Amino acid sequence: ITVQVDKPGAPVSKTMYGLFFEDINFAADGGLYPELVKNKSFEVPDQALVGWKARKGGFTLETYAVMSQQPLSAANPHYLRIGTRTANADAGVSNEGFRGMGVKQGAEYTLSLYARRPAGSNLSGLLVRLENEKGEALAETKITGLTSEWKQYKVALRPTGTTAKAHLDISLDGAGVVDLDVVSLFPKDTYNQRPNGLRPDLVQLLKDMQPGFLRFPGGCIVEGRTLAERYQWKTTIGDVGARTPLVNRWNMEFRHRSTPDYYQSFGLGFFEYFQLSEDIGAEPLPVLNVGMACQFNSGELAPMSRAGGPNAGEAGPGTGDVSLDIFIQDALDLVEFANGPVSSPWGAKRAAMGHPASFNLKYLGIGNEQWGPQYLERYEPFAKALRAKYPDIKIVSSAGPSPDGDLFTAASKRLGELKADLIDEHYYAKPEWFRQNAGRYDSYARTGPKIFAGEYAAQSVAIGSPDNKNSWDCAISEAAFMTGLERNADVVVMASYAPLFAHVDAWQWTPDMIWFDNLRAYGTPNYYVQKLFGTNRGSAVLPVQRGAGAKNGDDNLFSSAVVDAQTGDIVVKLVNYSAQARPVTLNLQGAKKLGKAGKAIVLASTDLNAVNSLEQPTNVAPKEESFQVASPKVSYTLAPYSFTTLRIPG
Ligand code: AHR
Repeated sequence: ITVQVDKPGAPVSKTMYGLFFEDINFAADGGLYPELVKNKSFEVPDQALVGWKARKGGFTLETYAVMSQQPLSAANPHYLRIGTRTANADAGVSNEGFRGMGVKQGAEYTLSLYARRPAGSNLSGLLVRLENEKGEALAETKITGLTSEWKQYKVALRPTGTTAKAHLDISLDGAGVVDLDVVSLFPKDTYNQRPNGLRPDLVQLLKDMQPGFLRFPGGCIVEGRTLAERYQWKTTIGDVGARTPLVNRWNMEFRHRSTPDYYQSFGLGFFEYFQLSEDIGAEPLPVLNVGMACQFNSGELAPMSRAGGPNAGEAGPGTGDVSLDIFIQDALDLVEFANGPVSSPWGAKRAAMGHPASFNLKYLGIGNEQWGPQYLERYEPFAKALRAKYPDIKIVSSAGPSPDGDLFTAASKRLGELKADLIDEHYYAKPEWFRQNAGRYDSYARTGPKIFAGEYAAQSVAIGSPDNKNSWDCAISEAAFMTGLERNADVVVMASYAPLFAHVDAWQWTPDMIWFDNLRAYGTPNYYVQKLFGTNRGSAVLPVQRGAGAKNGDDNLFSSAVVDAQTGDIVVKLVNYSAQARPVTLNLQGAKKLGKAGKAIVLASTDLNAVNSLEQPTNVAPKEESFQVASPKVSYTLAPYSFTTLRIPG
């Protein structure tokens, strides 16, 4: 293998390897967003009591109802009323959390709630108790001083044990009635110790990948099943307690893993996504609805223009007021929210949330997996308005999913004519497809839009099949494909595996990059492939040639190389998709001075079905070893079925 060290090619974009986040598989509520109470405000549409139950089947409560008279605020129009005429220890309610609540011994959790004693009630207080799955108390306390006005109460709970399956009980201390709202149990330990922060172990797994960008908030949830159920970023910012929940597009009946209780609380909203991007050093890449609901559901379309003329009002959730002008205005306002001065209306909202500095937004996605004339019809005025006001923002356009056959859609062609900045291509296909398509971009037009490989993952059984596994076969095949992305870094400037997260007890889609329960998390072999590319991105492509005219992937050997300008290192990535160990010789053409000891990072398993799990999180994980560099030739033996990164000090 010849690596032309003296002929560096295209720069590798800093955004090359990034993350695709979607609130699917309990990725946000129940995952990255560590609020432990499900449905804290009783505002879930059509399921106002989801997550809650009356203790002891309700026999101990005469009153257990969601009410709306004299609510906490207009943003919180519903609350829970519970009451008993006879004092008894079981008169109360229980919140189940997200397939339980994960709590750790000795850690601090803040319980906060609003309470009010309605007229005629003499209730003296509330008993709050965190219990494990056996009903044993892990922490308990009293809330006293209830008044006839809404008032917020806060207490700290420190569990005496650790469990992934705790639940929260709130009982009446005596006879009487109480109104409750915005009931929250939030861990003190969050990433960067932020209030309303994120689950630290999950953020750390992301940060460790050195991601170049974070695409959010999806996926199909951007589109919604109907336009009224689309993701609207403006409803996800400001006071966390006042954010109105929305049914999740992934709320569904699904074999053994039904999630009829899946909604978005928006505790993790657009401000928090921007902050997360900043925390992990990734460029934020928000994706907005283009005026089309999910084509796999209603496929509802926003009319092109409203009779009252452009921007003649605001659309609220479920208002049905959904002309395209509103979608476009939302996009313009989002750029102002992210980047505008604090003196601007939306910049002021960002500053009020604690971030006066700009988030320095550079990319914006318009539409997800949409294509065809209706998409293009809406994309055009969208892109025109954005370009007119914010010419520096790079627009990511959608070209639809990529089935195994022809990957070029009519939309891609038209987007080229429209001089789109980036086209978002998705590939969910069998592992062999990934190996066979490592050369996909070799002959791609060099003058057209750049490529964002926004969603891809090898599917061991079939697209989105519940039987798919995050097997080594899938991961090594993705590594082979990624050598092709890297070799074509002049065309491909962003790429992300999808989906990112899945809760082991509440998922709708497999495979996924990181799996977790309420306490633990692990990276799949696919995670380690992504991490190795992300942490060995380099700064410019080095041309790689095989001997005797062999192409990348011939004989199941795949390779790419980059130089890292910061360290001077030459980084060669090699995939051996064969059962035999394979000696290779690297001819580092034109290399001047090289260090004597190189570092090999090897991800390998002779079992193509090998997976990681909560119990065996590093069954397939990188191992490091050093090797000798006999400049300018390097001999190295690749392990059977391995992905190896060789770092040669320059
Ligand atoms: O990643 C899961 C889903 O796959 C995404 O929501 C969608 O964009 C794609 O179809």
